[in-house]
Amino acid sequence: MRLDKVPASELELFKKRTPKSGKIFEEVSQMVPFGVNSNYRYADPYPIYMKRAKGSRIWDADGNEYIDFNMAFGALGIGHSHPKLIEAIKEKIEEGTIFGFEFEEMLDLAKIIRDRYKVDMMKFQSTGLEATFHALRIARAFTGRKKILKFEGCYHGSHDFLLVSVKPSKYKAGHPVTPNQVPGSQGVLEDVVKHTLVAQFNNLESVEKIMRQHGNDVAAIILEPIPMNMGFVIPKPGFLEGLRSICDEYNCLLIFDEIKTGGKFYSGAAGYFKVKPDLMTLGKAIAGGFPLSVVAGKKEVMQTIVPGVVSHAGTFNANPVAIRAGLVTLRDILTEEALSYASRLGEELAKGYLDIIKDEGIEATVQYIGVSGSMVFAKEEVVDWRSFQKVDVGKWWLFMITMMNRGVIPNYGPDEQ
Ligand SMILES: Cc1ncc(COP(=O)(O)O)c(C=O)c1O
Repeated sequence: MRLDKVPASELELFKKRTPKSGKIFEEVSQMVPFGVNSNYRYADPYPIYMKRAKGSRIWDADGNEYIDFNMAFGALGIGHSHPKLIEAIKEKIEEGTIFGFEFEEMLDLAKIIRDRYKVDMMKFQSTGLEATFHALRIARAFTGRKKILKFEGCYHGSHDFLLVSVKPSKYKAGHPVTPNQVPGSQGVLEDVVKHTLVAQFNNLESVEKIMRQHGNDVAAIILEPIPMNMGFVIPKPGFLEGLRSICDEYNCLLIFDEIKTGGKFYSGAAGYFKVKPDLMTLGKAIAGGFPLSVVAGKKEVMQTIVPGVVSHAGTFNANPVAIRAGLVTLRDILTEEALSYASRLGEELAKGYLDIIKDEGIEATVQYIGVSGSMVFAKEEVVDWRSFQKVDVGKWWLFMITMMNRGVIPNYGPDEQ
């Protein structure tokens, strides 16, 4: 159904160019459901299987070369296999891959993160999911309250507490200002979902309404400060500041999930918009493609984690290879100068998209800041999940298949950047 708008000729061309991927898919999907290990990697008619990548290029199993704009769903701000990173990792692997103890270089990385993102204390994990999961536990332990408020359309990883109203149909979700809490997957317990309240992004009235009813039970408000799982949604002026004030009024925590934004703005969206959360999460691009995530924030909040009292644990947490990768990426590659240069290029690219849209009379908008942005096939700007519903998703699949047939991987999903 997703391929309704793709002409048969483009589908034929796609299959002709990628027979090996088709064959791998056929075989692997007998053992790995849908042939992928993250549902977001599945695409009709079948996912492409990659072989190698370097810089801005990636090659599939059939040897086709693509310019890769997806960059591992935002996990690669520095391109594939950056030479400085590869050199440093080769050295590290010779010295051991995991110790089961802490690793001295963690101190160097912690100092960089402290200074760059203006946080007092932090803990390292591997994935974004773990970081947001721990952020919620810390918030609940710190405040002694149960409920969390999130925003419709925001994604914070595939765990039950936040897999709520991620991409709900409007029929299940009800009124946009006071949306229902819709489980994002079968298997997510209703008992868990009832503690995850949902508000409309970019609408302080929606947040105030829900807080008036539940505010004293809310441990934290969590959000992607720029939602990047429904395109690229820019917070309206005053929205983030308004959330800060509401959290202060109700004495609950404000959590910025910067798993994506943290690697796209030098000091994260918190630095860019100059709004200070109590906790933030970082992940994806901060370690140049190695699994590393961070939950960080104010000292009094982070100190809630106490062995035997509030749990924070993981065999692979602060893995030495990932720590070395984070250190080299943030210190030597993703520097302020490099990011501002890349931002200028990003903005040029966005303007190019806008010119083509105008010249060709295409119904689309481009929303962007700096290195990142998204083109959506819609008449009006996307400001929340409800306006994303007006995006012509079928047209995006047509765009993706035709671009891939011509050697370009755009944002890999209509809701991606
Ligand atoms: C904003 C945000 N938070 C959290 C996550 C989860 O990160 P991970 O896939 O590393 O678990 C994602 C993943 O896309 C994300 O975009």
